[in-house]
Amino acid sequence: MSLTSYKTVYCGDLREANIDETHTLSGWVANVRDLGGIIFVELRDRFGVFQVVADPQINPDVHKVFSKLKDEYVVTVTGKISKRPEDTFNPNLQTGSVEMYPQTVEILSESQVLPFQLEDGDNVNEDVRLKYRYLDIRRKPVLDNLVLRHKVVQAVRNYMDNNNFLEVETPILINTTPEGARDYLVPSRVHPNKFYALPQSPQIFKQLLMVGGIERYFQVAKCFRDEDLRADRQPEFTQLDLEMSFVKQDDIIKMVEGMLVEGFKAAGVEVKPPFTRITWQEAMDRFGSDKPDVRFGLELFDIGDIILESEFEIVKKTLQNGGIVRGIRVPGGAKYSRKDVDDITKIAMSFGAKALANIIYNEDGTAKSPVLKFVSEAQAQQIKERAGAQDGDIIFFVADKPKLVYDIMGRLRLHFGKSLNLIDESQHALLWVVDFPMFEWSDEENRFMAMHHPFTSPCLDDLDKLDNDDLGNVKSVAYDIVYNGTELGGGSVRIHSPEVQKKIFKALRLTDEDVQRKFGFMVNALQYGTPPHAGLAIGLDRWIALLARTESIRDVMAFPKNSQAKDLMCDAPTFADELQLRELRIQLKPVHNK
Ligand code: AMO
Ligand code: AMP
Repeated sequence: MSLTSYKTVYCGDLREANIDETHTLSGWVANVRDLGGIIFVELRDRFGVFQVVADPQINPDVHKVFSKLKDEYVVTVTGKISKRPEDTFNPNLQTGSVEMYPQTVEILSESQVLPFQLEDGDNVNEDVRLKYRYLDIRRKPVLDNLVLRHKVVQAVRNYMDNNNFLEVETPILINTTPEGARDYLVPSRVHPNKFYALPQSPQIFKQLLMVGGIERYFQVAKCFRDEDLRADRQPEFTQLDLEMSFVKQDDIIKMVEGMLVEGFKAAGVEVKPPFTRITWQEAMDRFGSDKPDVRFGLELFDIGDIILESEFEIVKKTLQNGGIVRGIRVPGGAKYSRKDVDDITKIAMSFGAKALANIIYNEDGTAKSPVLKFVSEAQAQQIKERAGAQDGDIIFFVADKPKLVYDIMGRLRLHFGKSLNLIDESQHALLWVVDFPMFEWSDEENRFMAMHHPFTSPCLDDLDKLDNDDLGNVKSVAYDIVYNGTELGGGSVRIHSPEVQKKIFKALRLTDEDVQRKFGFMVNALQYGTPPHAGLAIGLDRWIALLARTESIRDVMAFPKNSQAKDLMCDAPTFADELQLRELRIQLKPVHNK
């Protein structure tokens, strides 16, 4: 029985049970050692490494070919599997107790010297690895990530199929999508001066599939967003995207929990639903983040009421002007030197803090702080109690506008979690954040913007707030799934009533013209019998990166862009030909270096 014309077995599959069988193996030369005439070659394929040996005394013809072998040549060998002498067993290889002295060998392809040594890969500059990604993929850590990704996707697909989801492909050349990032545009040759946009997500299409009666949609979907890149953001990435009809939030949460269980299981991790749910407000108040890492404590606390009773005028004024104050306790921090505290203050300032106040609670029970000028000893003790602080601790606090305070304190909390080694890396902390605000004020645009997208349903209890222009307090039926402090996915219940949709567009100050131009077909579609529907999308790359315990989603993509959004391997983006530009009626402007 043959696997292919060149293989009867995979290199990595050979064991002592195969001894005396004759096999044909093909793969890459991972390693050649010439030990006084006898040549040992490690032959590698996707499934492992196997030792083949040429002895000039046994088979001079084979030995002659072996003497030409160099790293990464592609060869095929045929011969009998034999047992290795026991004292030469290689415990690092699963095939380490067997080998082959081939009867025949053929070089299928030669290789130039590689631009980097595969076994040094972890220390090679990432840009070099990305330029030669096809070589990088030969390395086990990269291959392992791709295998993991495949297994998880496969498990998810099975689960979706078992639950009657239909995998439907949606188009890539479309009109603008509402996710809020910048679009990638593609000029049309056929329609001069017009552009397609690439989908930031299949959002509109999956909703239209619900209008189309599909009821349960699923897709492993490519998404494109022209954003500033970070370790967990790529210009093109993949979502596990789903949408269901005749459902409410709980139905989606339950379905997604089942999907996550299967995906985690495929990665060898057991997670147990139902996952904890907390509201967005609680997440912000306790952790200063809408994607809290709950693998450690150091929860924030509110001392606004205590400060308001004090003489701390500058902070009182901030509170009276709509600001908030939040503190964090650092256990054992009383021993920090002045410099330590200064350094922490600098970190807070790099997060945007104008000042960071601290109170040290000495071992003898007294408090020490620059703010004791304004805060009485009794109030300092009240704060200590609120913080749950002990003698020997330090607390820090910041007062400012809510968004800024949450952000600074949330990041400071993560800083302490990491620097004090408080994060239990063995945990898989999954958490739903629900009841997001519907709108978010934008200073830049001087108007409220949709926090998710404009098709997200507001909480029906908050409809009167919508009418009364109390937009800051309208909650939405939106939910995020958070895994170890990363936003893994998000979704919402959608608006299925044209009247509610109109109200939302109005609140977003979109004119009828704007709406017709941007989402006209969508709004029209909603008028032809729209089932209540809801959905969610998981960021597949982020999920796999977390499962693979790697910092960057680049590590789990076959051909990622680098941090400057460049594909170093095929050198994209690149200049277009004159002719192409002419056909597209595009005239380039000179670039002025800033
Ligand atoms: P959202 O915009 O929250 O929702 O995206 C869903 C998930 O996609 C991942 N993600 C990214 N991953 C890598 N690189 C990026 N640039 C990037 N941007 C987002 C995140 C995120 O949680 N249509 C809605 C979903 C819905 O409402 O059903 C949407 O796209 O893990
Ligand atoms: P000052 O009077 O400027 O010396 O400030 C006294 C203390 O108040 C300093 O320790 C500052 O760090 C602290 N402080 C001032 N503004 C804030 C603020 N917005 N949040 C937290 N602490 C503050």
